[in-house]
Amino acid sequence: MKHPKFKATVIIAGLVFGAAVIVIISCSTVERVMVPPPLIKGAEYVGMETCALCHEKPAKDFKHTGHARIQIPGEGLRVEGQGCEACHGAGSLHVEAGGGRSTFIVDPGRDPEACFQCHLETKALFRLQYNHPVIEGRMSCMDCHDPHGQDIFRPKGMFVARQNETCLQCHREQARPHVFEHEALREGCTMCHNPHGSINEKLLLERDNNLCLKCHAQLAAPGTVTIGDFSHTARVMQGTCWSAGCHTAVHGSDINAHLRY
Ligand code: HEC
Ligand code: HEC
Ligand code: HEC
Ligand code: HEC
Ligand code: HEC
Ligand code: HEC
Ligand code: HEC
Repeated sequence: MKHPKFKATVIIAGLVFGAAVIVIISCSTVERVMVPPPLIKGAEYVGMETCALCHEKPAKDFKHTGHARIQIPGEGLRVEGQGCEACHGAGSLHVEAGGGRSTFIVDPGRDPEACFQCHLETKALFRLQYNHPVIEGRMSCMDCHDPHGQDIFRPKGMFVARQNETCLQCHREQARPHVFEHEALREGCTMCHNPHGSINEKLLLERDNNLCLKCHAQLAAPGTVTIGDFSHTARVMQGTCWSAGCHTAVHGSDINAHLRY
């Protein structure tokens, strides 16, 4: 399971007369160009510690997350703001007003653009033909991600069981226990589906048998295909493993160990 250690350092490109700040996050594996946090007219950055004075709970868990390490550039190498304000915008006016809903602060829960400003690749996935309807406004990033949680993956982590639990909220039939489990699900729904979007129907990572063959080794003498202990030579020509009438119960079966209905 991919869960890269977060080692980002933030390199800062200057602020030019109030024009777009470009923050480049670079670490061993990622380079990311981002646009500035949401603009709140007349407000200045106050930093995470100030937010924590009144918002103890989000601030506590949040400290340990990758997003907490985002730093918002000031003049020279000075860091002006951190973490919270990358999504919520500069907070000074909000603080002076004693806080409050819709009071000089951005609520990014209403619009995925707040996330897309930094996650451009994710936006591209949601634009593919098959996707979870987030841009359409029928779902939110927060159905699956917790922006303040110790781990951004809901409910409490991206460890597989929990990841599947997230999907279970809405896809009971696929994620429920079955008499004959398909062990693939123990490694997570994302072994076969992209949770954001895909060029393939049903958000599948592959449209053909390669989806299955990456785990089910194929011992093939020339011209033959063997999977498990069975010759599949004739079968794999009839369609995909799940659509050719064979392993139709790909998420698990209650009646057949070979994953059929
Ligand atoms: C002086 C106390 C105080 C400080 C400091 C403070 N807030 Fe608030 N904030 C509040 C109060 C009170 C509310 C209203 C809460 C409610 O109605 O449930 C609020 C609401 C919010 C909301 C919800 C806005 C909405 O429209 O729903 C956000 C987001 C928020 N604060 C973020 C921040 C951030 C980020 C910081 C640091 C830059 C910060 N706050 C600093 C007191 C504060
Ligand atoms: C990755 C972006 C992001 C960061 C960073 C972030 N938040 Fe939020 N915050 C959100 C989103 C999204 C929501 C709306 C949640 C929802 O709709 O479920 C939110 C909601 C809130 C609210 C309103 C909660 C409510 O019950 O309505 C407060 C208060 C808040 N954030 C404070 C903070 C504080 C304090 C920090 C820093 C310690 C912080 N946020 C960092 C994205 C972020
Ligand atoms: C100011 C820029 C910025 C904003 C805004 C932002 N992110 Fe991020 N996010 C990052 C960076 C930087 C990383 C860590 C580097 C990476 O994974 O490439 C990250 C990582 C993540 C991860 C992966 C964490 C992991 O452990 O692999 C998720 C999920 C995520 N963000 C979701 C969100 C969501 C949802 C929102 C909107 C509520 C959001 N982000 C808003 C910059 C941002
Ligand atoms: C249907 C659930 C779901 C929704 C909705 C969702 N995500 Fe994710 N996201 C996931 C899962 C699951 C992973 C872990 C993927 C993996 O392990 O391969 C993930 C991973 C990520 C990552 C880490 C990089 C990557 O692609 O693996 C980022 C960044 C991210 N999501 C951002 C977002 C943003 C921004 C939104 C809203 C626009 C969003 N996600 C909506 C489930 C979701
Ligand atoms: C908050 C509810 C919600 C959550 C959580 C959720 N989904 Fe979905 N899912 C949907 C909706 C809504 C659709 C679109 C259905 C439609 O358009 O008819 C969908 C569609 C899909 C599809 C395509 C179904 C089809 O018939 O084309 C797949 C596959 C899928 N989700 C997998 C997942 C996985 C894997 C997760 C966990 C990472 C997950 N979903 C989490 C609501 C959710
Ligand atoms: C071994 C690969 C694999 C894994 C793991 C997997 N799926 Fe699927 N899923 C598929 C295939 C293949 C289809 C297409 C089935 C079809 O078209 O008949 C599918 C279809 C779906 C659909 C569309 C409805 C349907 O049954 O056709 C949903 C929703 C879905 N999966 C959710 C999930 C969830 C939630 C998980 C994790 C609990 C998950 N999947 C894990 C392979 C997988
Ligand atoms: C993430 C790895 C993984 C993927 C991807 C995967 N499987 Fe599996 N599958 C397993 C494991 C592990 C088992 C249990 C051990 C075994 O029987 O090989 C299993 C068992 C099975 C079984 C039961 C074996 C039997 O005795 O009949 C069938 C049928 C099956 N998988 C079909 C599929 C199909 C169809 C796909 C593609 C949609 C697929 N698998 C994708 C890992 C995977």
